[in-house]
Amino acid sequence: MKKIQDAVTAIREKTELMPKVGIVLGSGLGGLAASVQNPCVIPYQEIPGFAPSTAPGHAGKLLLGTIGSIPVVCMQGRLHYYEGHRMEDIVLPVRVMKALGAQTVILTNAAGGVNTDFRPGDLMLLTDHINFLGTNPLIGPNDEEIGPRFPDMTHVYTPSLRSLALQAAQECGISLQQGVYLATTGPSYETPAEIRMFRTLGADAVGMSTVPEAIAAAHCGLQVLGFSLITNMGAGVLDKPLSSEEVIQTADARGHDLQRLVSTILAKL
Ligand code: 6GU
Repeated sequence: MKKIQDAVTAIREKTELMPKVGIVLGSGLGGLAASVQNPCVIPYQEIPGFAPSTAPGHAGKLLLGTIGSIPVVCMQGRLHYYEGHRMEDIVLPVRVMKALGAQTVILTNAAGGVNTDFRPGDLMLLTDHINFLGTNPLIGPNDEEIGPRFPDMTHVYTPSLRSLALQAAQECGISLQQGVYLATTGPSYETPAEIRMFRTLGADAVGMSTVPEAIAAAHCGLQVLGFSLITNMGAGVLDKPLSSEEVIQTADARGHDLQRLVSTILAKL
């Protein structure tokens, strides 16, 4: 709780904006930050407890501003387990968003397609997740002021928000897949055998993020909405190797639609 308060105090010295929604921007999706109007931009280095973001395509800035008429706090660049960060550091920003006043978080990521009906460039609404990280951000002493020891995970991705997202997508003319996101630690991509295993396990997309933030958000009582941009297919699905350049390129090309979708959803909240 002290760590959360210290970060909130530092942010409050720069802006009084009370965000209603927190947004976490995934790999290559930092462009969405451009839709934040009159932003107060705070580099992570200036916020106590915020670890520097080292992943490519992740700027490492917190933005507080408005999208349409909705006050938001936006993480331009998230933290990943593969960077060597501790789980509690990875989820601190989500807890800070809640402490700043947010009721909802929108988590976005770039992911590989596991479901063979998917194509690179597809957008997927997360219906659920599989935690394949081998750890959990809530391990350690529980602060009851933040949330319960054993939080329910039946509806991590808030059903009413998912309906709203589907409605918004239809209005925008954006086709939206739905499915289960599985998180690995990375940083290596999967082998074809692992992708087949994940398909058998019920995964539709695979990535290296989002699950820690979603668990921490559910723990502290935030409503959650999650989107994957399918930047490439998982290993072995197509006859070509995976590259992080392709991930960033596809995210660049399709980021605009995700931006339109998020703006439309915000207007409906
Ligand atoms: Cl294929 N796997 C993982 N773990 N993360 C990804 C990905 C694949 N494509 C984009 N991010």
